[in-house]
Amino acid sequence: MGYNLLKGKRGVIFGALNEQSIAWKVAVKAVEEGATITLSNTAMAIRMGQVSDLAKQLNCEVIPADATSYEDMENVFARSQEILGGQIDFVLHSIGMSPNVRKKRTYDDLDYKFLSQTLDISAVSFHKMIQAAKKQNAIAEYGSIVALTYMAAQRTMFGYNDMADAKALLESIARSFGYIYGREHHVRVNTISQSPTMTTAGSGVKGIDRLFDFANRMSPLGNATADECADYCMVMFSDLTRKVTMQNLFHDGGFSSMGMSLRAMATYEKGLEEYMDENGNIIYG
Ligand SMILES: NC(=O)c1ccc[n+]([C@@H]2O[C@H](COP(=O)([O-])OP(=O)(O)OC[C@H]3O[C@@H](n4cnc5c(N)ncnc54)[C@H](O)[C@@H]3O)[C@@H](O)[C@H]2O)c1
Repeated sequence: MGYNLLKGKRGVIFGALNEQSIAWKVAVKAVEEGATITLSNTAMAIRMGQVSDLAKQLNCEVIPADATSYEDMENVFARSQEILGGQIDFVLHSIGMSPNVRKKRTYDDLDYKFLSQTLDISAVSFHKMIQAAKKQNAIAEYGSIVALTYMAAQRTMFGYNDMADAKALLESIARSFGYIYGREHHVRVNTISQSPTMTTAGSGVKGIDRLFDFANRMSPLGNATADECADYCMVMFSDLTRKVTMQNLFHDGGFSSMGMSLRAMATYEKGLEEYMDENGNIIYG
């Protein structure tokens, strides 16, 4: 059941690939809340994923775009305003990919071409998106732009690799652009730092099952699900948060404020044997 939080609002949602995607849940909820939307993803993702089914279900259009292409970003905002009939009220950036993670290159053995791609796809794309929108004056006064991020931007998490650097840049772009866009057009720019979530991107993270379990044990409220993340996005897109901007907002069941919990401590009883070499030294990597 919706609350009509987004009644009459227009939105653009980047990054819905399949039913597990956080952006998928956000798109479904945004329409339930009364918004009209467009969806965007790469041509490849549209071919391989289920975004066209989602578009059918929600009666909306999909605009193919590679988020690393500035021209594609311009086109998404121009087309979205045509299709939806006016300025855009909310935007979700739900895009992340690291070729280093995919190719199992560790952080002390990065391929630098891959690193540039990680940063371009996962962080600089956010800048391109906002710059393209701003130059067209595509976002309405008090519009809301949200990107999804992860705690590894601030604290080192095993296995998160160069995505940690990309997320740190992403969060910084939210602050830097949030100042400019807020000052000139009252547009809000925030990041939501989400719990580990079982999605296509999430499952690429080294040891995701155990990371998921650890975060769940550490968080007094347990991990936040993709559905719950979508609920939080609704509030951030709505008029209830008109003065919230330039923030990194933790949506993680309390994980970010924890040092150690009883439930997490209990897992240490299992030991680190499987990570030791024959001399008892721990193998990191
Ligand atoms: N899953 C998690 O544990 C978790 C936790 C915190 C934050 N996040 C973030 O949430 C966001 C969404 O990820 P998800 O977990 O829903 O996974 P997902 O795999 O469903 O979504 C990632 C999306 O990025 C898109 N994408 C990749 N390269 C692109 C490009 N060049 N141009 C345009 N789109 C491109 C993919 O097609 C896909 O739709 C990401 O930013 C991710 O880092 C995920």
